[in-house]
Amino acid sequence: MRKSIARAQTLDDVRDLARRRVPRPIFDFVDGAAEDEVTAARSRAAFRQVEFMPRALTGVEPKSPATTIFGRPATMPVVLAPTGFTRLSHRLGEIAAVRAAAEAGVPFCLSTFGTVSLEELADAAPDADRWFQVYVMRDRKLTASLVDRARATGCSALVLTVDLMASGKRVRDLRNGFSIPPRLTARSLVQFASHPRWSLDLLTSPPLDLANMRTGTDTDLWQLLRELADVSFSFDDVPTFRRQWDGPLVLKGIMTVADAQRAADLGVDAIVLSNHGGRQLDRVPVGLELLERVLDAVGDRVEVHVDGGVRSGADVVAAAGLGARACFVGRPWVFGLQAGGQDGGRHVLDLLHSETDRTLRLLGVTGIDEVDRSMVRLRTDVRSDDVVSA
Ligand code: FNR
Repeated sequence: MRKSIARAQTLDDVRDLARRRVPRPIFDFVDGAAEDEVTAARSRAAFRQVEFMPRALTGVEPKSPATTIFGRPATMPVVLAPTGFTRLSHRLGEIAAVRAAAEAGVPFCLSTFGTVSLEELADAAPDADRWFQVYVMRDRKLTASLVDRARATGCSALVLTVDLMASGKRVRDLRNGFSIPPRLTARSLVQFASHPRWSLDLLTSPPLDLANMRTGTDTDLWQLLRELADVSFSFDDVPTFRRQWDGPLVLKGIMTVADAQRAADLGVDAIVLSNHGGRQLDRVPVGLELLERVLDAVGDRVEVHVDGGVRSGADVVAAAGLGARACFVGRPWVFGLQAGGQDGGRHVLDLLHSETDRTLRLLGVTGIDEVDRSMVRLRTDVRSDDVVSA
């Protein structure tokens, strides 16, 4: 393992390292969010409002943060969230991530806009708990064939992302002149030249493409994505997926109680309260703050997962205590790849696991399922502005 990644003590340290290792536009593509980035900041701030109420002198022998997600064992309630264009961050992309996830014992979710195919992913980590995230394509036959391939390659869960009616306005990307694949301009040349290792990797690895659609490599992938995605996809289409997929079906991107109810009515197994890491519409609700109301409405019918701003094991425990069955984690694992490839991804998961374990011990409980609302609350007397600037 490269020394510096091993020295990273927190996920924020990993992010700092990532910032140094890759050209600024590549870091910003991952780190950035939409518009004023208010949602992304609020998502972090929500976790800073957490207050733990530990039990003293319980005399219990702690076990581990292990749990099950859809009946399959996981070493902690964490899922590596789907992210597009991952080979921009590291030449092995999702292959490095799925191997890190397999070693750490948590599920990995491949995006429709991933840069390795479902088949390559299965070959790389046949024993990993692999999930597939579907964006609904205008070409419904293509969409159906993606679902069939997910099943054929052994994916255990299907995640339908419901918040891609348009792509969010990512101001940093616009200012950076960011494009996929990266284009050589006077500005980007300076960036690439000052990160020779990353640039050499990019030049010597197969060209970036949407590997599951074999779209070719000479097109602007953002543009292509806009042409491919079906923005007319609605709740009425969910039953088609329910019929086609008999395993766990998850709707990701739910942000209101009403939509959570609709999802539950349609018989999905889980929802992810997600604002897409603040990368779509800005100033939308934050999953952690929605949990209580959503659980009251549908908690007896569906599992509720959450994402956005999870940056430590204590965050994972807090979300679990507030009722989330699992947390999706996005940027941190991609920063892990940027900072140190598969070892970096693994280091992120090791940090999350040891922090989760430590938090449970300090709370005086024996396992993650024991943490509940009597032990975690969100302080309302802390203004999110205070914690953002803290
Ligand atoms: C994403 N996300 C995402 N979600 C999805 O359903 N399909 C996708 O292709 C992508 N692509 C993507 C790329 C990048 C670079 C990022 C950072 C995020 C959203 C992701 O799955 C998840 O919801 C958020 O990343 C969670 O927030 P945190 O953990 O990044 O704060």
